[in-house]
Amino acid sequence: MLMQTAAGKLMKVFLTRRIPPEGMKILSAAGVCEVSQWDSDEPVQRADLLKGVQGAHGLLCLLSDKIDAEVLDAAGPNLKVISTLSVGYDHLAIDEIKKRGIRVGYTPDVLTDATAELTVALLLATARRLPEGVEEVKNGGWSSWKPLWLCGYGLSGSTVGVIGLGRIGMAISRRLMPFGVKRLLYSGRTAKDYAAEVNGEYVPLDTLLSESDFIVVSCSLTPETQGMCDKAFFSKMKNTGVFVNSSRGTVVNQEDLYEALSSGQIAAAGLDVTTPEPLPTNHPLLTLKNCVVLPHIGSATYSTRGIMGALSAQNLLGGLQGTDMPSELTF
Ligand code: NDP
Ligand code: DGY
Repeated sequence: MLMQTAAGKLMKVFLTRRIPPEGMKILSAAGVCEVSQWDSDEPVQRADLLKGVQGAHGLLCLLSDKIDAEVLDAAGPNLKVISTLSVGYDHLAIDEIKKRGIRVGYTPDVLTDATAELTVALLLATARRLPEGVEEVKNGGWSSWKPLWLCGYGLSGSTVGVIGLGRIGMAISRRLMPFGVKRLLYSGRTAKDYAAEVNGEYVPLDTLLSESDFIVVSCSLTPETQGMCDKAFFSKMKNTGVFVNSSRGTVVNQEDLYEALSSGQIAAAGLDVTTPEPLPTNHPLLTLKNCVVLPHIGSATYSTRGIMGALSAQNLLGGLQGTDMPSELTF
């Protein structure tokens, strides 16, 4: 059965990338729409996106696709739903989408555990200097056990500051507390009742910066958080402080971070997200031993990506059929 418009024509959907098979299976099994796809693991070029979306009733996109007025205009008036294979939606021009009455699906919750786990792994790898240690084993730099060689910072007895205690921020905090963290500070727009579960103390950002040994950024990217981690931010951190970001790259001013890391203003940084992505291989941050950079793999477990694929397909179908979407963004 193919889904039809009121005029008896097939509903068209455009997928901007190959998606996990779990999602494709749901779309085919539903048999309700005609799917066209950018059949690649690499991002669709802008011109191909503008062409592919023409006349579409549904669009399934990724965080690397900027969906703005130009794309919406190229799609035209048929477009009823945008389903993004991500929880972050900073790549979507929400005001324009709202104006046109288009529904939006996204993938909250299902990637929270995987992203929190990766963030904790990144924090430990950065604080305990794992990439440096692995490199020394390989390059012959390991001469003997030495009292102060490759020492880092431990979580036991420490103060952790979480910027953005949302779904992922809470999941990170739950995982960190059993390491013997003494105080868990958090900042954001409002205090959260649920923070009691991790003994979270709601504090002004400046207090969090000056009192934390580890700072984890897990907020969403908004005009307010864009560039938030800048020179002034790093200057308020302890010299022994470790900074970790798994939210979005543009929350950080990378020139200021480079300066803070290379001057000893802060001890180390772990980044799962950068600007741009990919980070050019000759980027100054990659020359620093005290900076660990991962290629945006927070949610990258097979099962999580499969569930994200399935959820994004279900959201798309719900939007096309005018029924409930399992995860609809309300705005
Ligand atoms: P949530 O909406 O649950 O949490 C976002 C948090 O950001 C909220 O608690 C919100 O606090 C906070 N926030 C908003 N504005 C500010 C601000 N000005 N200062 C401090 N905090 C602020 O989203 P999730 O936890 O599900 O996801 C968070 C983000 O993580 C996503 O938007 C995405 O960018 C990123 N992400 C990255 C992944 C990766 O692979 N590295 C994987 C998945 C997500 P308040 O409620 O007070 O407004
Ligand atoms: C998201 O979902 O926003 C991540 O960045 C990728 O999982």
